[in-house]
Amino acid sequence: MRKEIQKILLSESEVRDRITTLATTINKRYEGQELVVVMLLKGAIIFTADICRHLEMPLQIECLNVASYHGGTESSGQVEFLDRKLPDLAGKNVLLVDDILDTGLTLSAVSREVQALGVNSLKTCVLLAKNKTRTEEVNADYVGFEIENEFVVGYGLDYQGLYRNLPYIGILNVENL
Ligand code: PRP
Repeated sequence: MRKEIQKILLSESEVRDRITTLATTINKRYEGQELVVVMLLKGAIIFTADICRHLEMPLQIECLNVASYHGGTESSGQVEFLDRKLPDLAGKNVLLVDDILDTGLTLSAVSREVQALGVNSLKTCVLLAKNKTRTEEVNADYVGFEIENEFVVGYGLDYQGLYRNLPYIGILNVENL
């Protein structure tokens, strides 16, 4: 393990197994229907790539580039849309996929934008949800793991742009960087 990682919170195999069961639930929900997955860059890249390989319905993958942490450990409180390039989603079943639900600002801002496009249905899926009171009252429909309020990296999650490539979710040793 790297010295910057204090503890492995979720191992590679725990993440892999949970993604498989999450995908089974999502497959049942959308059986016989088409789905558009909208992943939120950049944190959701790895989670989306892995879960989508287990989804069985006709699937379209789109991305939306939003940021609120700007590399640090605390949300700036402002969700910045770095682009809004989405196709016409009117009448579509949309699943927003993100790596982590923390304050809830990102998911609620993006949900509002997507809902306004006249979608047929909108659901949300996150790999991690922090167990805390959120700034925005928002819950994800599909959650991989509930975690305590700790700063985690790996499997798509970064600190100052780094650590997204770690195959596990780890707690960062902020004193040892
Ligand atoms: C992170 C993460 C989520 C969001 C969650 O994104 O990927 O999108 O913050 O936090 P919230 O619930 O408090 O809004 P970040 O701004 O770090 O951008 P990134 O995905 O490019 O890392």
